[in-house]
Amino acid sequence: MLPAPGTPVPDVFSPGKLGNVTLRNRIVKAATFEGRCPGGRITDELIEFHAEYARGGVGMTTVAYLATSPEGRTDRHQYHWGMDDGGMLRKLTDAVHAEGAAVAAQVGHAGAVANAASNKMSAMGPSRIPAPTGMAITKACTEADIDRIVADHVRAARGAHEAGFDAIEVHFGHNYLVSEFLSPKLNRRKDSYGGSLENRARFARRIGRAIRDEMGDKIAVTIKLNMDDGVPGGFWVDEAVQVARWLEQDGSADALVMTVGSSLLNPIYLFKGDAPLAEFAATQPAPIKLGMKIVGPKMFKEYPYSDAYMFDDARQIREAVDLPMMLLGGIVDRPSIDKAMGSGFDFVAMGRALLREPDLPLKLQADDRRRSLCNHCNRCMATIYSGSRCVLREYVPPIPARSGS
Ligand SMILES: Cc1cc2nc3c(=O)[nH]c(=O)nc-3n(C[C@H](O)[C@H](O)[C@H](O)COP(=O)(O)O)c2cc1C
Ligand code: SF4
Repeated sequence: MLPAPGTPVPDVFSPGKLGNVTLRNRIVKAATFEGRCPGGRITDELIEFHAEYARGGVGMTTVAYLATSPEGRTDRHQYHWGMDDGGMLRKLTDAVHAEGAAVAAQVGHAGAVANAASNKMSAMGPSRIPAPTGMAITKACTEADIDRIVADHVRAARGAHEAGFDAIEVHFGHNYLVSEFLSPKLNRRKDSYGGSLENRARFARRIGRAIRDEMGDKIAVTIKLNMDDGVPGGFWVDEAVQVARWLEQDGSADALVMTVGSSLLNPIYLFKGDAPLAEFAATQPAPIKLGMKIVGPKMFKEYPYSDAYMFDDARQIREAVDLPMMLLGGIVDRPSIDKAMGSGFDFVAMGRALLREPDLPLKLQADDRRRSLCNHCNRCMATIYSGSRCVLREYVPPIPARSGS
């Protein structure tokens, strides 16, 4: 619900409670796929990536996209739960805790976003739908697949708890598998998982409840839920309001993180800003590069960026549920943070602003006029296969020529 007039507004640098965990402040590093797990191996580079955000002052950092299932990896250079991590996830959580921050694991199944050719396994969807990165058509999940993937989510939650994570973020967004089930465009099923919203949400609700039944309050659970796929005929905010209400009734989430867009059909809608088509095409193998030349301009549409660009939609969810919520999308300075805090959001999540400057929280704390240096060029998106990074961070200004020497 929106806060009643006169309700004190929490300061973003005050501690915030997320399930049974207390974060030292209310700034969360949003999941940005790191590209630091060759062959699924957790590396020291991945650990250092997250330790840097912890040193930079976030309340919690999120390790992006640890797949629930082998075929749910976007490609083979990704960890999936059930693999032996050689104790490296524990090393990661210890390193973040040593810097005073909490750490979440994002868990999910990529559905049609998975690269079947790289994984050497069919990608899965609610129905048979084109899976462009692996140049294949998904296998439609059987009821047995659904049962197994629900159980894989529970295994992921258990694994995250055992490795010392404080929270898991369950991915119900971006037209990954669960979000594909929610979408009336992508879900063409005729059984109890397709058709009405109640049916399309059945898979999501089963996952949420199964995790809670197994884990209780041993680990905090956040759910990253789409509110608008950005695709005609896709999942839309009025349906997201109802799904958020059901998740609240089910008691499956400690907080909701609302998001938008489709990694499958409309990726820039997630971010707003520039569409770095040429940079993205350059990272792809030849046949996909050619395909991108043809369909790229249609798929990689640009959208005008504005600060706190998900606020208006997320506020509709805020009005509908009492659950704690994080505001994501274009959180870059004190005004965008204060807008969230003053409207009943309990946390803010930042992706690109922290990629650009991992120590932005400390900078904002020292100077409340400070604004992120991220210019939403989105060129970091093209680096996800080679170690995600802000391309501007690598830029070293030329040393001015010294006269008279
Ligand atoms: C390089 C990069 C990688 C991303 N990887 C993921 C991911 O693995 N999982 C996810 O849910 N979102 C991912 N995102 C989306 C962010 O979590 C976030 O939703 C989006 O960037 C909007 O927030 P921002 O305006 O603070 O950047 C990624 C974003 C970027 C820039
Ligand atoms: S490359 Fe850097 S400046 Fe550009 S959007 Fe990504 S984080 Fe921001």
